[in-house]
Order: sequence, then C-alpha cells, then structure tokens
Amino acid sequence: AALPPFDLVIFGGTGDLAMRKLLPALFHRYLDGQIVEGSRIVAIARDARSDDEYRVRVREALAKVVAEEPRGIEVLDGFLALLSYRRLDLGDDAGWPDFAAELTVEDRVRVFYLAVGPDLFAVVADRLHAHGLIGQHTRVVVEKPLGHDGRSANAINDALGRVFDETQIYRIDHYLGKETVQNLTALRFGNALFEPLWKAEHIDHVQITAAETVGVEGRAAYYDRSGALRDMVQNHLLQLLCLVAMEPPASLSADDIRDAKLKVLRALRPITADNAAQLTVRGQYRAGAAEGRAVPGYAEELGSSSETETFVALKAEVRNWRWAGVPFYLRTGKRLPERSSEIVVTFRQVPHSIFDDGEGSVRLAPNKLVLRLQPDEGVTLWLMNKVPGPGGLRLRHVPMDLSFAEAFGGRQADAYERLLGDVVRGNQMLFMRRDEVEAAWQWIDPIRAAWQAAHEAPKPYTAGTWGPSAAVALIERDGRTWHEEGG
Ligand code: BG6
Repeated sequence: AALPPFDLVIFGGTGDLAMRKLLPALFHRYLDGQIVEGSRIVAIARDARSDDEYRVRVREALAKVVAEEPRGIEVLDGFLALLSYRRLDLGDDAGWPDFAAELTVEDRVRVFYLAVGPDLFAVVADRLHAHGLIGQHTRVVVEKPLGHDGRSANAINDALGRVFDETQIYRIDHYLGKETVQNLTALRFGNALFEPLWKAEHIDHVQITAAETVGVEGRAAYYDRSGALRDMVQNHLLQLLCLVAMEPPASLSADDIRDAKLKVLRALRPITADNAAQLTVRGQYRAGAAEGRAVPGYAEELGSSSETETFVALKAEVRNWRWAGVPFYLRTGKRLPERSSEIVVTFRQVPHSIFDDGEGSVRLAPNKLVLRLQPDEGVTLWLMNKVPGPGGLRLRHVPMDLSFAEAFGGRQADAYERLLGDVVRGNQMLFMRRDEVEAAWQWIDPIRAAWQAAHEAPKPYTAGTWGPSAAVALIERDGRTWHEEGG
C-alpha cells in the first residue's frame, strides 16, 4: 500500500549512509509506487550546492541500482524531482527560519533522519525544537552508535527525550529489518511445530554468527573507537538473541514485542571480571587474504597499533525458566572467510538410538534449525534420514532447505526499505525502545570493564580465517562445535 505523503529531512544528506542505504531504499519504494506525489525528501549538509547539483550526485550514487531495475531509468527523474538540498550549519541559526517556513506549510508526516554523528543529535534536536519544527506527526530517526557506553547512551536519550516523546523516536537497528529476522517471528509464532520445543528441555544450544569479509577500510576512525563488541554485539547480535529467546508476546504491537525483548536482556547472566576470561574471546586481524587477494592487517589499515577488537566470540546465558542452562554462543568479526550471518538452533539428541551398524549403536547428529540472514536468505532444517537403497538402515544428516529467493522469487528488499516505510507509517515494532538500549549497555559495559582491567591485547588472527583459535576452544570446551555449511 502507498505511504501517506511525507516530508523526510535527512541531516547528513551527502554522507555515506544517505548515499549507500537511504536513497537507494527510497528509490526502490518509489519504483514500487509507494511514495506518492507531493512527498518531499530534503537533504541537509554544510556545503553550498544547488538542488540540481545534489540531484546529479544522487544520480551517480544510484547508477548501479537504477541499472539493475527494468524500469529504473524511466522513473529516475520522477524520483530525483522529489529531492531538494538545503545548506544548514547545525551550529548556527542562519538559514533555519527559512527552512522552518518551508516545512511547516502543511500538517503532514514529517521525519527527521539524523544521519550524523551522535555528538550532533542533541544539537539538531534543540534546533528543531527552537524553530517549532516538532509537531504531532513528527518523528525522528537515529542510528547507532547510540553512545559508546550506558552513560553516553543515557545522555543521548535524555537530549532526544527533552523535545520528542518516546513514541516519536525511532532507534534503528537495521538487522531488525532483514527478511530472515522478521521471519524468525513468523516461524516461531505462525507454526505449531517449533514453539512447543522452544526451550531448554529440547534445545541444546543456540549460535548466532555475523561474519564479514570486509575490513574497516574507510571507517577506521569510527571503528577504532568502537570495536566489534559495541559495533555489532551491543545492538545487532543482542537483538537477534532477544528475538530467539523472548516469550510469546500477546500481539505484534511495538510495546508487546519490546517488553518481551527487554525481559530477555534483563535475564542475561552478567559477564564481569570474574568470568570474562572463560566466557569471551577478543581478536584482531593480521595481514592475510580476503576473497582471494592479499589484504593488510587492522593496524596497517589504521596506520597505528591498536587494542581494538575486530572479532568477538562469547557465551551468553539467559537465566530464566525457559532457557536455564542453554548457552547462546555469539560471534562476529571482520575479515572472516565469508560473509554469512545466521542463527543456528541445535536441538537435543534423541534419548536413545535404536540404530545399530553392526559395531554398536549409531551416533545420531542432532536436529538443527538454521536461519540464514545473508547471503541467500532462507531456512534449513537438518534431519536424520535414511540413505536410499536396499542395504541396511543407514542414516545421514541432510538439509531440508527453504531458499526465500526460490520460494518467493523476486529481489529481496533491503532492510532500510522496510524500516523507512515503518517510520512513515508510525510503526515502532522494529525499533528499539529506550529501556532496551539501556539494558543492552548494562550488559555490555561490564564486559568492556573486565577487558580493560585484564590489560590483554586482542588475540591475533589471520585475515581470512574464523578468528583466533581461542574462539574454537570457547565452544569446544563444552563439547560443541561452531556450525559449518555441511551441517
Ligand atoms: C553496521 C556496522 O551496523 O553493520 C558495520 O557498523 C557492519 O561495521 C554492518 O559492517 C553489517 O551490516 P550488514 O547488513 O552488512 O550485515
């Protein structure tokens, strides 16, 4: 269905996020007829440039996306006509009154997307307020990093909370917009098959992996202050964990879902100086290979030595009735062998094997449910099956595979397409509430503190490998292994 007409103002309108994610997402929604005439997209940045100069830039940024779409070229001009550019200095009032006058002509959905550094969130929020730009139908969108620890996150939330109501604040975690992630909720609560088994009695453990082949390239300055724990675990991986572990919400309303996720965060077993050495592994890549070519190590990319981790593996536990004793192994890293993100739910072994190969009872591999976030989104259920043929009853672990591309065809929409649409519609289900973000930091901060107190450099790993060997040891100590492609 078409979106109501809206004004979207992108602060940081010439930045990387706008060019690589937001504008392509908006273009696709336009292509599908969801963005109606009269909607406006206003890009804000510091430099002087005309609307047309800005459109030329966006045309270049969209070239690849446009070429991939059969009607891309045909509709591009219509899309570009929605765009305008405005130079504004966030530190200075000049220009704001005109901008405000232009925006307030109509009472319609107005979205301010703060695609700028978090140090500017408060500044922009205050100006928006001072110039009377925050009305009933106004929403604000912010991206991580929402602070670098609990304290700074609270400060950001306070600043936003002074001028916006919580129902107007959309904290994006783009992992929640991914198809497979939404499908996790569909699988769990739309089928009778899984939920009865979804507990410690039947589940042995859960693995959540977000592996990337890229290094930090142009983002080294940001990344070095962040590290993998803050960049990926505090937000994306914990959100996935919450969706796996949460109790069935009463409805899909934003608050029912967020209440359920919050309870999971609050039930996480704390990792502190006492147990961090057993439960966590930090790594940093050295020179190696990625996608068949030689690549430099992290320190070379950064241009100086650094103690920042580019890899984390950890063992989490949700301390409640449903999950007591079930480990959740999380890992993420840059310069790993492949770009693949997945959630693997491993069920318990059958209590007794009746299969005998003549040399004793056959060991059965456990059932696994694998949710592939990327690439090739889909779901696989690993089952024991009979190997066909007249011989004995031989069994093999085989995948029952559902590829979304094959089952549903068409292109997979990017997470931002869904999320931007939800902002305009006013649906906060896939956005994080303040208390969730804060609870996530409350769990993360002691881990960082423990690392700092231990004064240990991250363990080296060669680019193109699955992280330091300690990450393998972390799970093998428990008699388990990281899931591999072959089951
Ligand atoms: C971002 C991180 O939030 O997520 C990046 O800041 C990371 O470091 C990216 O590369 C991964 O997102 P995706 O969608 O490519 O898995």
